[in-house]
Amino acid sequence: MKVTIDGVQVELPAGTSAIDAVFHAGQDVPFFCAHSYLSPVGACRMCLIESGSPRKNPDGSFVMEGEGDAATPKIFWFPKPMASCTMQATEGMHIRTAATSDVVAKAQAGMMEFTLLNHPLDCPTCDKGGACELQDRAFEYGYGASRFGFDRRHADKHYPLSDFVILDQERCIHCKRCVRYFEEVPGQEVLDFIERGGHTFIDTEEGGLPTGFQGNITDICPVGALLDNVARFRGRNWEYDHTPTTCTLCPAGCSITADARNGRLERVVARENREVNEAWICDAGRFGHVFASEARLTRPLVRVNGELVETGWDEAIAAIRAGLGGMNTADLALFLHADSTLEEGAALEALAALTGTNSVDHWPRYPAEILSNATLNDIATADAVVVLGADLGEEAPIVELRVLEMLRGGILPPEYAHGTAIADLRLVERPARKPEKLAVIGSASRLSGNAGTFVEAANVDLLTLIRPDSEGARAALNLLNSAKNPVLILGADVLNGASAGAFATQLSDLMARTGAKVMAIPAAANSSGLAHLNLVPRSGGQGYSAINHTRAAFISRLDPVATGQSLGGFTIVHDTHLTATAQAADVVLPAVTNYEKRGTTVNVEGRLLPLQQAALNAGEAADLTRTLAALAEALGLRTRIRGLKSAQALLQTRLGVDVTDLPEAGAIRPLGPVYDAPTGQTHRPQLWTERMTLKPDPWKATWVDRIESLVDNKWELPMAGTGTSVTESSVTGGDD
Ligand code: SF4
Ligand code: SF4
Ligand code: FES
Repeated sequence: MKVTIDGVQVELPAGTSAIDAVFHAGQDVPFFCAHSYLSPVGACRMCLIESGSPRKNPDGSFVMEGEGDAATPKIFWFPKPMASCTMQATEGMHIRTAATSDVVAKAQAGMMEFTLLNHPLDCPTCDKGGACELQDRAFEYGYGASRFGFDRRHADKHYPLSDFVILDQERCIHCKRCVRYFEEVPGQEVLDFIERGGHTFIDTEEGGLPTGFQGNITDICPVGALLDNVARFRGRNWEYDHTPTTCTLCPAGCSITADARNGRLERVVARENREVNEAWICDAGRFGHVFASEARLTRPLVRVNGELVETGWDEAIAAIRAGLGGMNTADLALFLHADSTLEEGAALEALAALTGTNSVDHWPRYPAEILSNATLNDIATADAVVVLGADLGEEAPIVELRVLEMLRGGILPPEYAHGTAIADLRLVERPARKPEKLAVIGSASRLSGNAGTFVEAANVDLLTLIRPDSEGARAALNLLNSAKNPVLILGADVLNGASAGAFATQLSDLMARTGAKVMAIPAAANSSGLAHLNLVPRSGGQGYSAINHTRAAFISRLDPVATGQSLGGFTIVHDTHLTATAQAADVVLPAVTNYEKRGTTVNVEGRLLPLQQAALNAGEAADLTRTLAALAEALGLRTRIRGLKSAQALLQTRLGVDVTDLPEAGAIRPLGPVYDAPTGQTHRPQLWTERMTLKPDPWKATWVDRIESLVDNKWELPMAGTGTSVTESSVTGGDD
């Protein structure tokens, strides 16, 4: 299909929207309501263009203009500018943008004037300032001054839609992105326009916004109307250090940007990754980062006369050397959290080889690591999904969102070569959901309410599907059997009972019989990756569940005491916070969080994803690789892994992968066989419960209290040094 934009002819695939044709030609058109992952709605009228097409005679020939060889098809122009986001480009179409059309330039400037009619223009105090689509487009396409001198509409500037999302009603430009997001992505009709005309505002039903994925509306709101309450007033956009990295709160591995200011992690926003999280993240990933900047351990602690006292690394190493004095290095057990990076895992494995210990483990994990062969895009485009024994909202929320996407038709916007934002005309507004494509067997969860077949069962295993003994289970098996591209999702309830032998055989039989692909949700962000390294108890060694039988243990970012386990002998803890286990330890070494390290994790699909280091102030905290090098020194050994580069080189030898050249979106690469071992205990991920409940705990209390007290005090904000406060009425009082 040939389309001419501002005189330049481009070749485009059929079905391209006119707005995308403009971007493809390298031209620009402003837009507010269009969004790559939402249906086109034509609400803002900013994307105006002039367009015209050739017309055919009754005999099929083109109506021509000009004489002889110079004759060309005559272009019949629409009499008025048209919204390009709701129009499909067609063969031979001509488009004029503001760059070549005064009519378009004037219409867009006029639209901008109307859009700003009631806008408070409080950019100097708006959190979106510096990253606001309205600000940028007003500068590029507006008149620069308003001809309207009357008072603007006033509305509530601090209207909490939930504990986490706050609305400034004056700033809303009624683009409807937030409303469409809820309807089209998680499929929840919770937000809508109320009233008419200049009085229109968005609001929710009573009870606020649903839990799970509400924070995404703060990313897609093109203005500063919807704001992340946790990050609100914490910094201006240009003050943040933006670090593109990967969320490691669950095994989905969403791409995020970590925004830090003055050494604190103030905000997490979604980063587009078409393969993994598209443009969305879950609320735990977005709002659950506060721990990284609160009550951090910044210096080592050693126990002196029964008390932990702050000290330096040299003294801590000396204390470890003294504490382990007389022991065999093989007596020191090594345990690490399963969201540690591959590089850290390689460093631990190298140290274990050096010390000769057989007591090595990563936690949480399941007895057998079942590798998935389904990708997240396979789920979104499947024609049937069966979820067995999983609470996806607690285990891997973005997997839940992709299942919901499957219910609405699973249509992914096409990937155009130029990759610009497009409003895909094949996405229809409020697409019908098809619950009959989903069967859930297990405990009641958020997702089970969306399933056509739900079998509530406390104990489920693969036999539930292999030998179904209820109508619901038979319906689920039929769903797998009758679909062309079915996907089976396995969660904690099933995987806790998995054993390497029998389970794997049963599963491969089931896959062969039904043709289903499988996604087994790992227990933590990198338990899948660490299972490829030999980080499970070896013959004669103790696993994490038998920590009390160890003569000495090094524990990285795990808190066994909090879960009722008792410790063994001499204990070295490497952690970000003074956990219950750290309080009982002999030596505590400060650790960095996963927001502050470089490395690689392996997500639920087997996709290798890169982590980058955000600029947080963590004092003398160190990642596991460097900490293990210090530990080796305390043991009088010299490990070959002393930093990221040597760990990456070892990974290349050990797993045959080069993790230094990973694209930002990650890549699926085979890592070879996995190491399994019995666990001795079960694990049930509780992401939402752990991160998002508003119960006070040592490092959540401060911000939850802050928000609650602001709400209780009608948003009275203390002003530094004045002893006075800014009240709601004084903030809403003026717009000039
Ligand atoms: S709140 Fe934001 S996203 Fe929602 S309609 Fe208003 S401007 Fe659009
Ligand atoms: S789904 Fe998982 S990886 Fe994605 S943002 Fe949420 S917690 Fe992070
Ligand atoms: S009408 Fe809003 S982007 Fe087209």
